[in-house]
This record gives sequence, structure tokens and C-alpha cells, in this order.
Amino acid sequence: MTIEVRKLAAPMLAEVVGADTTKPLSPEDRATVNQALIDHCVLVFRGQMLEPQQVLDLADAFGPVEPHITVKYRHPDYPDLIVMTNMDENGEISEHETARGVGWHTDMCYMPLPAKATLLHTIEIPEEGGDTLFANMYMALEEMPQTLRDKVEGLQATFRYGGRAADRNLRLEKTDQDKPLQAHPIVKRHRESGRESLFVNPTHTVGIAGWDDDAAQDLLAEVYEWGNQERFQARHAWRPGDTVIWDNRCSWHSATGENPRRQPRRFYRATIADRPH
Ligand code: SIN
Repeated sequence: MTIEVRKLAAPMLAEVVGADTTKPLSPEDRATVNQALIDHCVLVFRGQMLEPQQVLDLADAFGPVEPHITVKYRHPDYPDLIVMTNMDENGEISEHETARGVGWHTDMCYMPLPAKATLLHTIEIPEEGGDTLFANMYMALEEMPQTLRDKVEGLQATFRYGGRAADRNLRLEKTDQDKPLQAHPIVKRHRESGRESLFVNPTHTVGIAGWDDDAAQDLLAEVYEWGNQERFQARHAWRPGDTVIWDNRCSWHSATGENPRRQPRRFYRATIADRPH
């Protein structure tokens, strides 16, 4: 069966139809879905419940899978996967669930080589709420007023896991706290598309290299206000059997934290490194 890619929302997001993700994809299909990710930034595969190895096989179509730096949630038998959950150790909905994953961010931007992509596959989702939001950072940069673009061009931002928020840092495992700062350009070129996008984000960016902190926070606030516009955004409402993969090099994402019925929300999650196999 031939794979078809259907655009879902104007700024980003497309559905991949006709891919049997229960089996490793053929070389041709791997190339097709990888190009679709580059073209649309976020891809949705629907209606196929996957086991951990199948999730890893699908993630591998986009590049080498690497373990997330957070050890706590690693799958016991598949350490390259995280089991992302809103439940606590006692099987109750966590008191932190309305904050977990909430706030615009980009995964692994605090590493020397930020992640290419993240894949989430549903294990269990609430009947209501629990959506994920995405924002297109190519568009945010391309449509940025020249005066603002002139201010950010050529600057390096600094990043740290947990960002500036002390409360967030305190919620991290001890081994994840106080990781060293990493610097990356605010206007960053995408390795595969060759396009530039806006790379800073409100959760993990700490400051601007070589800048006084007040001045850096003022400029970053201006950039975030620009990036946080609805016209750059798309929403994914999860259905059972969904797999979603997003390109971290040109997008922000955020959980909504809405779960009115207080139901479990659990995913397998894989991180794909930004280098060829
Ligand atoms: C994430 O922040 O990586 C996950 C987003 C979500 O939980 O919807």
C-alpha cells in the first residue's frame, strides 16, 4: 500500500495514511515519512496500538534513537523508551500533572546536540482533554518584524534542563538538577531542510551568552511574545492508537495540562538524535 501524507492544519501537522507501523517500514517508506516530517514538522499516525519494540522501529525510521537524559521514567526492558505518565508512584493522578510538559519547549535543546525529533505513542489517554499544542518556529522567524530579527540575528542563547524556574528544578531528580549551560544560536539552521528557525523557548532557555541578565530577559520576552501567536500554532487531540512525531529543530510543543475527568494519560516516548544513522 502506498503511503499518503495529508495536511491537517495550516501552520504544521500532517497525517500519514497507509503505513503499517506494526512492522519496520521499507527503505522507501522510511524516506517518505522522513521527508514528510521535514515538510510538515509534526506527523500523526492513527489507529495502531504498538508494543515497545514497534515504537522503537518506527522511531528508527527517522534517525538513531537515543535515551532521554531523565533516568527515572525509562522503560525497564527498553531503556531507549520513556514511559511518560501523569500518575504518581501510588498509581494516583500526580499532583504535578497540570504542570508536566506544560509550557512551550523544545526537547533536548539543553544538550550539545539537540534532538531531531520526539515520538509519542499512546498507551492510555483521557476521554476528554489531554491535547498537545505545537507552534511552527520557521514561520515565527520568517514572519518576524525585521527590527526584532536584527536584534536576535547572530546571538547565542544559553539553555539548561529545567530552565530558570526554581520550582521546576526542585521537581527534577537530583541527578538531573543543575546541568551545565549549553549555547545554541537563536536563529538556527535546520540540518536537513537548510531553513532557519527560531530556536529559543520559554522553558529551557536561560539567557543570552555574554549579555546582562535583565537585558537578555527583556529581549527573550519580546521574542516569546512574538512566537506565541495562535496563527503559528496547531493542536493535536489524541485518539487511542495515535503516534505523533515532531521535529524539535523547528517547533515548540506544550501539553495543555487539561484533564477534567482526572484520568490516566500515558505514552511511550522516544527521542531521535539529529544525526544520520
Ligand atoms: C512533552 O512535553 O514532551 C509532551 C507533551 C505532552 O505531554 O502533551
